[in-house]
Amino acid sequence: MASKLIAPSVLAADFANLQRDVEMINNSDADWFHIDIMDGVFVPNISFGMPVLRDIVKHATKTIDVHLMIIDPDRYIKTFADLGSNILTVHYEACTHLHRTLQAIKAEGMQAGVAINPHTNVSLLEDTINDIDLVCIMSVNPGFGGQSFIENTYKKVKQLKEIIDRNNAKTMIEIDGGVTDKNAKALIEAGADVLVAGSYVFKSENPTATIKGLKEIIA
Ligand code: DX5
Ligand code: ZN
Repeated sequence: MASKLIAPSVLAADFANLQRDVEMINNSDADWFHIDIMDGVFVPNISFGMPVLRDIVKHATKTIDVHLMIIDPDRYIKTFADLGSNILTVHYEACTHLHRTLQAIKAEGMQAGVAINPHTNVSLLEDTINDIDLVCIMSVNPGFGGQSFIENTYKKVKQLKEIIDRNNAKTMIEIDGGVTDKNAKALIEAGADVLVAGSYVFKSENPTATIKGLKEIIA
């Protein structure tokens, strides 16, 4: 089985010490950088935008996994490719022509991800699953770090895994929101491949050790 991945969410970093926190991730057992971009319209919060991502990418040495919580994401696909995103995830709920959006992301040389809100049924991805490199199952309502994990997520992971296997797809399953040492193992057992962790990592006393601990739990 392919190894399971941890993607610390930079949203929970100390933005006044961003280079320090980026280096911490570089030197840790983490696999990816998870970057949350919010527009204050699709979600009721604004995070940070292109100039900040550009400076993160300058220092980051691992995969850049960008999660767009914005309406009409097609407008910015090329911009995020040029900034150095490796994976670009758009929200199912924000795309009128999801299939076209996925092709546009891949045409820019990135892997294409689709995020689904807690209310969105995984069966809606049945007809695009072979075009999706990564499905991000939101295990909180998007917009803020530090919320508590929605237990219904386990069911969704199992249902999505079944759709992926039945279609012989290579799609990875990412879980985003409220991930801790308490749910990490069960999420992997349900079929998840990548766990995003924001506050659990950055609010801990020793983020490097916390990432190491998560990796051990899911190994
Ligand atoms: C929420 C973001 C998440 C967030 C996760 O809208 O998409 O990536 O940073 O943070 P925690 O792990 O604190 O729930
Ligand atoms: Zn996210």
